[in-house]
Amino acid sequence: AISEGEILGYLYSKGIKPDGVQTLDKDMVKMVCNEYEVEVIDADPVKVEEMAKKKEILDEDDLDKLQDRPPVLTIMGHVDHGKTTLLDAIRKSKVAASEAGGITQGIGAYKVLVPIDGKSQPCVFLDTPGHEAFGAMRARGARVTDIVIIVVAADDGIRPQTNEAIVHAKAAGVPIVIAINKIDKDGANPERVMQELSSIGLMPEDWGGDIPMVQISALKGQNIDDLLETVMLVAELQELKANPDRNAKGTVIEAGLHKSKGPVATFIVQNGTLKRGDVVVCGEAFGKMRALFDDSGNRVDEAGPSIPVQVIGLNNVPIAGDEFEVVASLDVARQKAVACAELLRNERMSAKAGDGKVTLSSLA
Ligand code: GTP
Ligand code: MG
Repeated sequence: AISEGEILGYLYSKGIKPDGVQTLDKDMVKMVCNEYEVEVIDADPVKVEEMAKKKEILDEDDLDKLQDRPPVLTIMGHVDHGKTTLLDAIRKSKVAASEAGGITQGIGAYKVLVPIDGKSQPCVFLDTPGHEAFGAMRARGARVTDIVIIVVAADDGIRPQTNEAIVHAKAAGVPIVIAINKIDKDGANPERVMQELSSIGLMPEDWGGDIPMVQISALKGQNIDDLLETVMLVAELQELKANPDRNAKGTVIEAGLHKSKGPVATFIVQNGTLKRGDVVVCGEAFGKMRALFDDSGNRVDEAGPSIPVQVIGLNNVPIAGDEFEVVASLDVARQKAVACAELLRNERMSAKAGDGKVTLSSLA
């Protein structure tokens, strides 16, 4: 609730003049939070992992009804290292070939079929706008991504956003696969990238470590299949399961207000199956799902585990990282949404009043 200008003003008063894109170090963050009496939670990877476990998406009831679900993958990396080109390469070689009419990217997530051992295996990619949401979700302990693919340009090496992506993935306890990109370029030096990565603790499998690294050219479509196979192998080891035969729950990955459709949200279903007509509550928003759209913008009747789906029918725009769940009736949904709104209001008020002790979790 504090404006960027105010925080900058405070930093200036302390003789710190951030240049706009500068990252504040831990001590500076603590100092700012102290000034505004905001509780600081150290995003210690172990703690975040514990939080994620607490919000375990599977219940005991699910255990004897589990079925395999597709992996959810996020591509991250430094600006211009080729994330979008890699997504395009994957889409062209796989989606366009397997789905009539190719894909129109309606939402920031889509399903791709990868041929493994003669069978088509589905996997779900979260697009890079998900980058921001990923941070927000991690802060809330939500774990949506099963694997992070980090793209590093072979002619440029590790850069600030590469590091950021590594920190994100490690903190969330998500396995990393490295795509060393642009190997077709003059000046490409994949070995140097591997050296840089090993010097920060990511030892390539080829050198006896545990991080798979695949050398690719996203532009020329070189080794893309290798990369996908590697990713699917890592996914297999995770034994990803869910119970499709229950009420859906999952996480909001993006949301906004559409001119004619009203509030629109993209969900990733993490357990159960979401159906048209279901009543959903997510954060302060709730409503009956009037329509569901798949990643090509086609209307669908339902979406199972790992599947991204765009929904209309919510009364409000939720926030990326909010969890959603299907409830029995609109009354129940309204009550839950009001309770959530009340909690948030209390939290904001107590933050303003300087009583930083009351938190969402202590009230819940
Ligand atoms: P942002 O979205 O801005 O963060 O960048 P990005 O990571 O999505 O990079 P993008 O895919 O837009 O690629 C940046 C530039 O690198 C483009 O000009 C691409 O054509 C080029 N590029 C991407 N992959 C390759 C590659 O494998 N080889 C070569 N030679 N160029 C590539
Ligand atoms: Mg891009």
